[in-house]
Amino acid sequence: MENTIGKQFMKMTKYVNLELSAQSQGVPQPALELEAPNTAELIELPSPASLEMPHIDLRLAVEQRETRRDYADHPLTLQEFTYLLWCTQGVKSVSDISITRRTVPSAGSRHAFETWLLINRVEGLQPGLYRYLALSHKMIKIPTEVDIRQRLTDACKHQKHVFESAVTLFWVAVTERMVWRYSQRGYRYMFLDAGHVCQNLYLAAEQIGCGVCAIAAYDDDLVNQALQLDGEKLFAIYIATLGKRNT
Ligand SMILES: Cc1cc2nc3c(=O)[nH]c(=O)nc-3n(C[C@H](O)[C@H](O)[C@H](O)COP(=O)(O)O)c2cc1C
Repeated sequence: MENTIGKQFMKMTKYVNLELSAQSQGVPQPALELEAPNTAELIELPSPASLEMPHIDLRLAVEQRETRRDYADHPLTLQEFTYLLWCTQGVKSVSDISITRRTVPSAGSRHAFETWLLINRVEGLQPGLYRYLALSHKMIKIPTEVDIRQRLTDACKHQKHVFESAVTLFWVAVTERMVWRYSQRGYRYMFLDAGHVCQNLYLAAEQIGCGVCAIAAYDDDLVNQALQLDGEKLFAIYIATLGKRNT
């Protein structure tokens, strides 16, 4: 099967002048966030300021971090889930020139990601597919077919920890947000940015008795289709499973 991301590189090199970014040609900056459909119900999350999590020595978190693929059956609390969401994409401020400062770094502060969430076990949330709205710190539920959990597991090459996770996070690249400033090089920056996001998840999970497994072995087309993404303007750039630790 042809590689979608490879195709994106080919396309970009055809129509973007290396020297002239869209920004330098006066194209207005893309929106900071994808719009939520008018019909979507907004789901409130606990405020980041209210989240009280156990303290852990950073050295210990770094030292004991490892990839964990076996998860306990019990759910994450809404507080724990929200905390991890905030650690990966939380918006700390929006400047008057429309730049967000978040809990993770991003080249040029472009912050080109949105977070899709396959939720299987979080207290107070129905299982299903959701999207985080980082700017307002809310979520929306995305209508899907009934077997979205199995479909996404299959799209991730049947890795059973997707099916068994409490939550699987899908970081979706909004290419225009990065490429607007950096043209083709923006692709490199998005892949680098994704690593920072997942590392924050790994370390914060250690703090609260959770485990994480980064996932890059997945079928791009199948994941994008399941998430209702076109695979070019929007595509799944990185995935991670998450759950309470078994041990
Ligand atoms: C970019 C990247 C992609 C990965 N993809 C997968 C994957 O698809 N499935 C999986 O089970 N583990 C995946 N992993 C986890 C690695 O296998 C794991 O980090 C590695 O074995 C080292 O183990 P440690 O994280 O416990 O130190 C991935 C890790 C990274 C950084």
